[in-house]
Amino acid sequence: MMSRPRQIFFLILLLFFPFRAALSATAAKAMVVTAERQATRAALEILRNGGNAVDAAIAAQWVLNVVEPQSSGLGGGGFFLYYESAPKRIYAFDGREAAPAGAYPEMFLDKKGDPYPFTPDRITGGLPVGVPGTLKLLHHVYSRFASKKFSFGELFAPAIEIAEGGFPISRRLAGFINEEKERLKLFKASRQIFFDAKGKPLEKGMYLFQHDLARTFRLIQGEGILPFYEGKIADAIVKAVQTAPFHPGLMKKEDLFYYRILDRNPTHGTYRGFDIFSMGPPSSGGTTLLEALGILERYQLRLHGRKPDGFHLLSEAQKLAFQDRNRFLGDPAFTYVPVLRLISKSFATRRSQEIHFEMAIPTTEAAVRPLALENSHTSHLSIVDEQGNMAAFTTTIESVFGSAMVVPGYGFLLNNELTDFEVVPKNENKKLLPNAVQGEKKPRSSMTPTFIFQNGRPFLIAGSPGGSKIIGAVLNVIVNLIDFGMPLEEALRAPRIINRDGPIELETQLYQDLDLKRELERRGHPVVLNPAIGNVQAVYFDSEKDQITGASDPRGDGEALGY
Ligand code: GLY
Repeated sequence: MMSRPRQIFFLILLLFFPFRAALSATAAKAMVVTAERQATRAALEILRNGGNAVDAAIAAQWVLNVVEPQSSGLGGGGFFLYYESAPKRIYAFDGREAAPAGAYPEMFLDKKGDPYPFTPDRITGGLPVGVPGTLKLLHHVYSRFASKKFSFGELFAPAIEIAEGGFPISRRLAGFINEEKERLKLFKASRQIFFDAKGKPLEKGMYLFQHDLARTFRLIQGEGILPFYEGKIADAIVKAVQTAPFHPGLMKKEDLFYYRILDRNPTHGTYRGFDIFSMGPPSSGGTTLLEALGILERYQLRLHGRKPDGFHLLSEAQKLAFQDRNRFLGDPAFTYVPVLRLISKSFATRRSQEIHFEMAIPTTEAAVRPLALENSHTSHLSIVDEQGNMAAFTTTIESVFGSAMVVPGYGFLLNNELTDFEVVPKNENKKLLPNAVQGEKKPRSSMTPTFIFQNGRPFLIAGSPGGSKIIGAVLNVIVNLIDFGMPLEEALRAPRIINRDGPIELETQLYQDLDLKRELERRGHPVVLNPAIGNVQAVYFDSEKDQITGASDPRGDGEALGY
């Protein structure tokens, strides 16, 4: 039992810092970090039984579909960064949802040309649903890299067990169900899962059973991915989208049939001698992260410290990188994205010359245009196996509960990823914006699955949910490790500061520092409170101690486990 003074000490700590302690673990050979404990455990079990990082990531994803149904799953998409240790190669796979062929730039504008209200109209029902990529993505990485100790179907087993056996709803999940009850209520199949028999939203501690989802997993176990992209699951998805009782959508069966996974080049740059690999377009994650780091590299951030000058620099580097993101980033099949220029040192030097310590850079016009709002509910997992193969997988259905539509009879939620497109598709000169909706185009993402190497050896695996906050969340962790020399757990725990070409967003502890806030405001920064930025899952390699540390963000419910 904890002594009374110790209890009081921890209570006081909790009052000042609302997050739980980061769940971290240290190990010698392998590590799994996911946003949910059961997913971490399932993945670890796969590794212990001879599976590799790909097998473990796949098993974890299906468990996440069950236990974090609001964040990711069969109905969504994602980006998978993979490091194959033997040839020391890095791959970047794009399983981002695509707009149906029939999509068009003005699809989220009303008859008068005004944007539909964001909630519930733009984010709910059939219209914002993109063609799901997650299942095909994982099948693709399985075919190329899995250990083959497990069949693709066997990797569904842990998820099926939890979906059928049920699990007690956490406080976090109950909160999400309650927050989103009005949207979920619109769809019978969603009510059947997330509401009780009397029509009340399920609460903390009640059991969530997902028999339809378990049956869908069993169907894929038996017949592979074809039913989803060509067969009866495809029929059910298309019917759900086209006949949605709220904003029916445009997806056809051909959209699913023609959906392809793309092998992309990872975006690569250096920061203070470290090699950084992340996801390139259609994600803005890699270019924006590297541009911001390139700008920061011009300064002795360590000397400026976590003080007004250091925070000012962190803000301005992110602001400038977001200005370029908003100007250039979109699906490279539709718009030219100058990736090499954006991440070059010379461009960073030029951009850094706009920074003045005494005066904040004004935000650009793009910042006052209605933003393509990206909500914060996605999931990330970071894994390294005994052979040193690494997976950084960020996976999403976009908003909490995506479109809020469960596919009737199949038990999974459909994404609303098309809300990541610009709602107003043209600029003041009537020119189509890089991230305007177009048929078969992929919406710009901010997902930032990242690997860092030091002298050719792995240093960090990281990623986060958080919509466009993802980039800043990952950047905060990187500078905390590299510039401020924090241990991993502290690097995750430290309150974050981001700027998305708007106000400085500070997490609570920093926001409550009135001297800091006043000083930033004096320099011309609008300052806002953002109570929680991201939910980073990270693995750190200590080459001196020959040891691996995993840590799950104290802002979430995740866990790190290794052996
Ligand atoms: N759905 C979050 C993102 O793609 O950035």
